[in-house]
Amino acid sequence: MKIEVRKARRHRNGRTILDAEGLVIESGTIAAVIGLNGAGKTTLLRAVSGLESEAGDDILYDDETQIPHDRIAHLTQSSYLFDMTVRGNVLLGLRGKGFSETEMDAMAVDALKRVGMEAFIDKKARTLSGGEAQRVTLARTLVMKKDLLVLDEPSSATDIQGAELMEDLIQSVNKENGTTVIMTTHNPSQALRLADMIVFMSGGRVLEWGHPAKLLKDPQNEETMKYFRNWRIDDV
Ligand SMILES: Nc1ncnc2c1ncn2[C@@H]1O[C@H](COP(=O)(O)OP(=O)(O)OP(=O)(O)O)[C@@H](O)[C@H]1O
Ligand SMILES: [Mg+2]
Repeated sequence: MKIEVRKARRHRNGRTILDAEGLVIESGTIAAVIGLNGAGKTTLLRAVSGLESEAGDDILYDDETQIPHDRIAHLTQSSYLFDMTVRGNVLLGLRGKGFSETEMDAMAVDALKRVGMEAFIDKKARTLSGGEAQRVTLARTLVMKKDLLVLDEPSSATDIQGAELMEDLIQSVNKENGTTVIMTTHNPSQALRLADMIVFMSGGRVLEWGHPAKLLKDPQNEETMKYFRNWRIDDV
């Protein structure tokens, strides 16, 4: 799904926390939104997925103004699992779509395998650690096969191995299904590895966006430069 944020503004307590315009995310690509705490990344994602829409938003979805809620999955920064088994949680995303119980179960097992959580399938979700829960939540989100995936810090709580699995999974869902992905991360190396495009935000504004290598090597904005310099990344 192609996304065009022509205008999205949010004001809270007399402050402008989002003032985004002129951002285009092509269909089938992965866009990583990066920036410091409070830059407006989550606010932008919530506007794009329609989790929090407001009058005055001017966002196009495949050139249409209507938000296609049923084609969008949003993994929030703190997503919660329901008080049931891991399997039950993943199945939630599949019910009512015309799959048989056997098909749904195979899909759930496959998704859990891909995040390295198949051994936990019959465990109660509330017994999982933070990183384990995050892996299951991603599996639950990805199994739904939507056209747009909005992922807010999908691997913030996982260990390196978990993050790697998640990256592989996000990438394969993107490649296999042509799913457009908009994600945030505080790990610029992850953004450079995964994304076709990086969006740098600061103070609610999209300061710069473009090809990862180009942004890293030739940032046009002083703040983007500083951000990358702080991370001491010199190779892609
Ligand atoms: N409902 C709200 N009321 C008041 N201020 C808000 C509200 N939601 C967000 N903000 C403020 O807006 C700014 C942007 O918040 P946002 O959650 O989008 O940041 P972020 O870039 O996702 O940060 P992080 O990296 O910490 O997740 C922050 O300064 C935050 O405190
Ligand atoms: Mg955030």
